[in-house]
Amino acid sequence: MRTQVAIIGAGPSGLLLGQLLHQAGIDTVILERRSRDYVLARIRAGVLEQGTVGLLDKLGASARLHAEGLPHSGVDLLFGGQRHRIALDRLTGGKHVTIYGQTEMTRDLMDQREAQGGRTIFEADDVVLHGFDGERPYVTYMAEGSCRRLDCEVIAGCDGYHGVSRASVPAGARQIFERVYPFGWLGLLAEVPPVSDELIYVRSQRGFALCSMRSHARSRYYVQCGLDEHAGDWSDQRFWDELRRRLDPATAEAVTTGPSIEKSIAPLRSFVAEPMRFGRLFLAGDAAHIVPPTGAKGLNLAASDVHYLFEALRELFIENSEAGIDAYSQKALARVWKAERFSWWLTSLMHRFPDQGPFEQRMQQAELDYLVSSDHAMAALAENYVGLPY
Ligand code: APR
Ligand code: PHB
Repeated sequence: MRTQVAIIGAGPSGLLLGQLLHQAGIDTVILERRSRDYVLARIRAGVLEQGTVGLLDKLGASARLHAEGLPHSGVDLLFGGQRHRIALDRLTGGKHVTIYGQTEMTRDLMDQREAQGGRTIFEADDVVLHGFDGERPYVTYMAEGSCRRLDCEVIAGCDGYHGVSRASVPAGARQIFERVYPFGWLGLLAEVPPVSDELIYVRSQRGFALCSMRSHARSRYYVQCGLDEHAGDWSDQRFWDELRRRLDPATAEAVTTGPSIEKSIAPLRSFVAEPMRFGRLFLAGDAAHIVPPTGAKGLNLAASDVHYLFEALRELFIENSEAGIDAYSQKALARVWKAERFSWWLTSLMHRFPDQGPFEQRMQQAELDYLVSSDHAMAALAENYVGLPY
């Protein structure tokens, strides 16, 4: 089989890139290790920046998002027992974020790809990347019991943190920057109305918590937990009790509880691999970088990478110029590092660290007090939260 761009991974990065290239008349094949149903059952974050929504608009894949997504023009910070609203719209000249599950966005892109006859090979095993340091890269994989070969001009590594693409690059050719946080997030999804119209990020003596949602009828909550904990040890009742203890009395009282649909623990990590290009291999999204979920930047960063990569590949294939692909890594990384900084900062500000003494706690408190007393400080948060331009 032959294509112009072999895309590894059918997550948001791979699907977005595939659709943008298709719209520009550039041929792609996506190789995905998992089944379609598996990919669509994964529960991930759900806060979209306007830039991400803009890409879906450009593709004509945003009808359901605009019908069902919830525009949010503010978020709350809860600390010292009090809620403080950050007015995203007022502080950013009218910008907002949209609540729409990543799972739904993935479904919309998959549906569009299928309707347009785009080729996706699900359950592609043992994907191996070859020859990307030369002019004729190709990918081999196992499907339906036989080994197959996909010839291409470019490989897009959109296969997430555990994928094969980044791992295919010789260790000496890449540099890794990493911070592993000494805690995780225990998340719970339930078919209950959210406690508030907007998200609440909580700093409490018992640790961080987050009140989020997927719709007016479906809530997503998180509590900071130890890395040695197991979701199975958390009954629903234990989760709801712990969440309530981290909230102020009025908010705690207003929480509607119900049986969980899903409960899982995710570790928190900041990670960047540089560069994002190796010859004819380009990394995008989680394949190149991870942010802790505190700023909801993971999916949006994948979208901005894809925007830069799409423009670079369009230049390569349509205008016959390599200028775009030469600049890709540097351009994408400039935005990646700003989002890394924001996610790290918000994580550091809101969580309880095991080695934190009274001094560090007072510093967190003072920073939060300052933040909500200063329009300049709140504007800096708001401008990052709604998403930096690209
Ligand atoms: N071969 C083929 N496909 C693979 C391989 C492999 N060796 N390894 C992983 N994949 C697939 C995964 O099954 C997954 O469907 O690549 C896809 C990567 O998707 P994501 O992990 O969702 O990464 P990305 O598309 O970059 O999206 C980033 O999604 O995962 C969240 O937190 C993340 O919000 C961020 C955003
Ligand atoms: C979520 O709804 O899953 C969510 C929202 C905001 C975050 C992280 C996760 O910062």
